[in-house]
Amino acid sequence: MIGVGIVLAIILIIAIAVVVSKKNSGDDGDSGEGNEMESGGLSSIDPTSIPKDAPNWLNPFKWADTTGFNLTYTAQTVGDLPVMGLFSKWDDSKSANEHTPPLDKPWGDYAKRPARGVNVGGWLSLEPFITPSLFEYDRRMGIVDEYTLCAYLGSRCEGVLEKHYATFITEDTFKEIAAAGLDHVRIPFSYWAVQTYDDEPYLFRTSWRYLLRSIEWCRKYGLRVNLDLHGLPGSQNGWNHSGRLGAIGWLNGTDGDRNAQRSLDVHDRLSKFFAQPRYKNIISHYGLANEPKMTELSVPTVLQWTENAHKIIRGNGVKDAIVVFGDGFRGLTKWQGELQGLDRAALDVHQYVIFNTNQIVFNHSEKVRYACAGWTEQTVDSMNRGTGYGPTLVAEWSQADTDCTRHLTNVGNGNRWTGTLKTGDPSTDVTTPRCPLMDNRCDCGPANADASEWTQSYKKFLRMFAEAQMSSFEKGWGWFYWVWDTESAPQWSYKKGLAAGVLPAKAYERDFNCDGPIPSFSDLSEAF
Ligand SMILES: *[C@@H]1O[C@H](CO)[C@@H](O)[C@H](O)[C@H]1NC(C)=O
Ligand SMILES: *[C@@H]1O[C@H](CO)[C@@H](O)[C@H](O)[C@H]1NC(C)=O
Ligand SMILES: *[C@@H]1O[C@H](CO)[C@@H](O)[C@H](O)[C@H]1NC(C)=O
Ligand SMILES: *[C@@H]1O[C@H](CO)[C@@H](O)[C@H](O)[C@H]1NC(C)=O
Repeated sequence: MIGVGIVLAIILIIAIAVVVSKKNSGDDGDSGEGNEMESGGLSSIDPTSIPKDAPNWLNPFKWADTTGFNLTYTAQTVGDLPVMGLFSKWDDSKSANEHTPPLDKPWGDYAKRPARGVNVGGWLSLEPFITPSLFEYDRRMGIVDEYTLCAYLGSRCEGVLEKHYATFITEDTFKEIAAAGLDHVRIPFSYWAVQTYDDEPYLFRTSWRYLLRSIEWCRKYGLRVNLDLHGLPGSQNGWNHSGRLGAIGWLNGTDGDRNAQRSLDVHDRLSKFFAQPRYKNIISHYGLANEPKMTELSVPTVLQWTENAHKIIRGNGVKDAIVVFGDGFRGLTKWQGELQGLDRAALDVHQYVIFNTNQIVFNHSEKVRYACAGWTEQTVDSMNRGTGYGPTLVAEWSQADTDCTRHLTNVGNGNRWTGTLKTGDPSTDVTTPRCPLMDNRCDCGPANADASEWTQSYKKFLRMFAEAQMSSFEKGWGWFYWVWDTESAPQWSYKKGLAAGVLPAKAYERDFNCDGPIPSFSDLSEAF
């Protein structure tokens, strides 16, 4: 009897404890006090407070994810862009780590304290190789970019893309980025966050609130933001990640001028919005256009557009952010003496060995050597106004040593590594194998293996290749790795690289830099 009584008493106590704790954690709308980014959830707002005719982007009941958003309805805009979702107060007192100043203190000279950052690429601007799962269609359907994807999905595009926005990058992403000793985040997004034109199938506006929320999450972890307009009206490079694969319609072709003006209008609105006081400390870099293909475009036209865009942005009150423009693949030396009138501007070069048939073929030793010698020299020369533009940063690079990753080259197009690249243009096809062995032993199998299958010596190479690049790019204004995470391309994922130990656990504590002697490491030289 006593035993049964004790058991009953224990059950009763547990039951009471559960009820009490449920009550304490219940939907108490004020639980977010002290934390600007917690909302009470949809149950805390009155559905009748949302006007019946409110568009989806102003109606949280239509959002796939409400975490971290202020759900109180407001139709207020700045630069004709909605502020809906933002909390009124913000806190700029965090630093990314003990080596960097908090957001509300100046960063200082980027030449002395280079940025160490990462891109949240493939998120608000899709790229097939980063998220192949979004592009699993029969090749004959021609779904190769965001345009063709949304054209095919029609009304389902919103559901598919918003699910991706809500899950691919989350608050944990920014927490992990700061924990890795990184201090900047480059956030690629495309013009359809702001505006769509004509009958374009792009998903209008949904990515806007995700962009705003991600900036607030950066703030929470002390990370500074490089805003990167990745897709411009007409497409500035004709590549998939501009939204639309094909001809360049920006500053080129019949609609070239119209798309130039539309892009300036987009920057006009963006810069009015980001001139708000809440962005002064956090937006460190403001990017004008990702990778304009200046090898095909008229150089003077792009330079003139760049000057116009810079003028608009400064005129609208974005005073502190560094205005970033792309090198356009011209080669850094061509920039000597150009655009010297722009205040606080920086040249952005993207460094990869795998898109160049003479560099992809390097064996492991040569790749590390090139990452040190070649890229240090380029960076140093570019930083010097006597031999290059001046301020230079590397806003994209990776550890990829092959172009084997699925969907990296256009869907179904083959690759340089095995000499199977068909681009549709015979002058850029690659029909002889370009792995170091340069014969039929060139194989994408090992290159595409999961990180768990990497050998010790391959890992040693990957780590040294990464640290060599960091070291070179820190001779300039710093670097941003491409990208934070991928579904299945581990040599392109900072997160997977950290897990595999091929990136330093803290970006500011590294084993290797290019200043000392470069070891000769025969064991790093194996080729697939
Ligand atoms: C949420 O947004 C509304 C509308 O903009 C604003 O009035 C309110 O202050 C915001 N709430 C918080 C906690 O910031
Ligand atoms: C420039 O525009 C013309 C006309 O639309 C087009 O034929 C051409 O392919 C474009 N150039 C590039 C490099 O895409
Ligand atoms: C996407 O763009 C990348 C980078 O330019 C390119 O290498 C690749 O071929 C493109 N992939 C697809 C599927 O279009
Ligand atoms: C890598 O390339 C360098 C330069 O050509 C060469 O000296 C070295 O022997 C190569 N390593 C291997 C393992 O082939």
